Amino acid sequence: MKRVLLVIGGGVAAYKSLDLIRRLRERGIASRVVLTRAAKQFVTPLSAAGLSGDKVYDELFSLTDEAEMGHIQLSRSADLVVVAPATADLMAKMAHGLADDLASTLLLATDKRVLIAPAMNVRMWLHPATRRNLATLKSDGVLAVGPGEGEMACGEFGPGRMAEPNEIADAVERALGEPARIAATHALPGPGTALGPLAGKRVVVTAGPTHEPIDPVRYIANRSSGKQGFALARALADLGAYVTLVAGPVGLPDPAGVTTRRVETAREMLAAVDEALPADVFVAAAAVADWRVATEGGEKIKKQAGALPRFDLIENPDILASIARRGAGRPPLIVGFAAETEKVIEHARAKLARKGCDLIVANDVSPQTGIMGGDRNRVHLVTADGVEDWPDLGKDEVARRLAAAIAARLAGRREISA
Ligand code: CTP
Repeated sequence: MKRVLLVIGGGVAAYKSLDLIRRLRERGIASRVVLTRAAKQFVTPLSAAGLSGDKVYDELFSLTDEAEMGHIQLSRSADLVVVAPATADLMAKMAHGLADDLASTLLLATDKRVLIAPAMNVRMWLHPATRRNLATLKSDGVLAVGPGEGEMACGEFGPGRMAEPNEIADAVERALGEPARIAATHALPGPGTALGPLAGKRVVVTAGPTHEPIDPVRYIANRSSGKQGFALARALADLGAYVTLVAGPVGLPDPAGVTTRRVETAREMLAAVDEALPADVFVAAAAVADWRVATEGGEKIKKQAGALPRFDLIENPDILASIARRGAGRPPLIVGFAAETEKVIEHARAKLARKGCDLIVANDVSPQTGIMGGDRNRVHLVTADGVEDWPDLGKDEVARRLAAAIAARLAGRREISA
């Protein structure tokens, strides 16, 4: 039986961690619980012990009492360490290597992978200090799930709500399925294929459309299904890459072995990409909406006899161009997509130059091709050196070939710069 060491931090979301113990047990994963001092304000050691069927460790457990179980041994007694809720304070301690209580000492002493489920007030989550700590933790190889967006216990609205127990349990299963930690994230092999040509490489992929709200019920969108981008994320992970997929609203499930972040708008997509960087490869497969309305209505716009509503549009950030034009933080290999309905190659060539990427995957998405939303694709690889025309193939096969082409190109380039 797999076992996690579950560190419960002191936040309102702590009660959800009791449910997490149950959800993990349903999946055949045992939990050994550590409560911080603050966590005990929210859940009792007795309820955690009852649910986990194991002794619960807290501050009363002496760090020097080796008679029972030393803290080093405790920190390694599980296959994975899960911190839920990961409060701003716990994240800060982890990022700086502080070890002034049992939880932070275990987190510093462990040789196992760590998965955090952050939960805090939205301002605390968005504070530059927490952003910095998160980036540090990620580059140390710490995995993260959530937080989600919604109304919070403190009455504010926005990102900061702890992921739901089932989402955390999914992330735990994914992490347990991945190969053992090598050193830091940059050297982490992707799931299942430690020896793949992209082993240890980090890739960020965008996919799907974006939805740009007009009012609380209406939005601007496009017909992208996300299938090609999702298939590509999966194929890159199959070659050993550590892949973050930033997906617009689509009905597709998270690809196995890929860290998936769901977003709605172009601005959210850019923020999520930024958070996932640095990377060795950035693939922009999303059909990002080019425009959004200048002023989003707070209430549903009502129909008025004889008067049509008018909307001013403003341009969305160009995610691909903004990442490709970065200096030091630019991923060494950047792949864009071009969805065209005419003069496919000509437009793709122009886009390659305009956006500053290294490779454009161009396709004809006129309605008669059935490519948008369909399962097949016919693409052309456009680089500064020329054009490669590929035959009509299933999107999964296009994804496999693209992943191989990306691996081949990357092999000839410099290492990750940040
Ligand atoms: N793209 C992006 N951000 C945008 C628009 C596009 O990252 N705001 C990326 C897409 O993911 C794709 C590439 O840019 O990789 C080309 O997208 P496409 O919609 O074909 O190009 P546009 O910039 O919209 O150009 P045009 O309107 O001339 O077709």
